[in-house]
Order: sequence, then structure tokens, then C-alpha cells
Amino acid sequence: MTAINIALDGPAAAGKSTIAKRVAAKLSMIYVDTGAMYRAITYHYLQNKSSFTDFKTLISNIQLELKYDEEKGQRVWLQNEDITEQLRENDVTENVSYVASIEEVRTFLVDYQQKLAKEKGIVMDGRDIGTTVLPNAELKVYMIASVEERAMRRLKDNEQRGIASTYEQLKKDIADRDAYDMNRAISPLKKAEDAIEIDTTGLTIEEVTNQIISLANEAIQNA
Ligand code: DC
Repeated sequence: MTAINIALDGPAAAGKSTIAKRVAAKLSMIYVDTGAMYRAITYHYLQNKSSFTDFKTLISNIQLELKYDEEKGQRVWLQNEDITEQLRENDVTENVSYVASIEEVRTFLVDYQQKLAKEKGIVMDGRDIGTTVLPNAELKVYMIASVEERAMRRLKDNEQRGIASTYEQLKKDIADRDAYDMNRAISPLKKAEDAIEIDTTGLTIEEVTNQIISLANEAIQNA
């Protein structure tokens, strides 16, 4: 097992999960998508809205599990059901920034994420990994890209998944979500002081992956 953890943060649709998956595969590390965990709680919240009282109760009844499938990668199970495919639906995306701003939700998930990373060998992507979840990660990368490029990438992604969307709407949603994530009170989206920033605008997936792999190899040697 690789003796380091990699924290990969950045705004919405910056390509973090695509890159994180490839870096993890090349270095025999495990990829953990923390956005999917916030999405899972959002899904649970939307499913239980009619009986919802407060987040503390919602969380105390939640059974959240990450499983790893050789072919499909990380799968998210909620109340004994694989809900991975539902996590990208529009109603989840529209509500996730709100749910992710709730203190009880963050405390619960940060604790879970820290436990997952204890044995090292994890590539974790999110918004607060370098600042809050893994402040001692051996490598921290902060990925950015222009909002236009991110909207275009998400549009292609949605087309492949069969999710209806338009470029203009995506651009607005991404900008709104960034503003919400950057301005929330608890663990806002922010570059950690010791993170290396990579602007991926105009770069290919291969170029970004290779940059991070060479940074990771350096970190592995220094570990
Ligand atoms: O990466 P994503 O689009 O799946 O993330 C969904 C939302 O979850 C995002 O708008 C902010 C929130 N999030 C967070 O607050 N902290 C994380 N570590 C990961 C995601």
C-alpha cells in the first residue's frame, strides 16, 4: 500500500473525480469521492422530507456504506441499497450545497472520511480535504478551471449519463454552487496554504494526471 494520502480539492466540475480515479489506479491507491457522501445524505434527506424533523435525527438513522467494485469503483450504499446512480440526479445536485453546509452533516462525514484515510493509500477528493479532513496529507492539490470549461465538461458528462441539461443552466448552477460552497461558515471551499494549485483549463486529462503522478512520486519518496 502506498504510504501517503493525496487530498484533491477544488470547485464544482473541475475534473477532480476523473483525475483522482486515474491517479489512484496508476498508484494502486483507493479513490474516495467525498462529494458522493454529501450527495447520499442529500438523497436521503429528499426521500424523507415528509417526515423530516432535523439533521441530527436524520443522521442518527442513516446507514451509509462505501463499497468498492473492481469494475465500477466506489459504490455508495444507503439503507442497504446501492444508490450510486441516483446521486447525480438534478434534485440532488440542486440541494447538496445546502445539506453540505449543515454542521451535523459535516461532523458525521469528516469523521467517517478521516477513519477511511487512517491506513494511508487514499486519494480523496472534495472541498475541504486539504484544510479540514486530512490537514497532514502528504500531497495536496487544488484544481481549478474556468467556469466555461467546467460547464462544457459537465454538459458532456451529463450527455453520457443521459441527464438532461443545457450549457447556460450548468454554467449558472456551477457558479452558484461555488459561491455557496466558498461562503459557508463551516469548512468553506478554500485552497489549503500548502496545496499546489493546478489550473486545468486547456489541459488534457492525461496532462493533469501525469502532473499529479509526478508530484505524488516525489511525496512517496519523501514519506
Ligand atoms: O464534488 P461534488 O459535486 O459531487 O460535490 C457535491 C457537493 O458536496 C458540493 O457542492 C459541495 C459538497 N462537498 C463538500 O462540501 N465537501 C466535500 N468534501 C465534498 C463535497
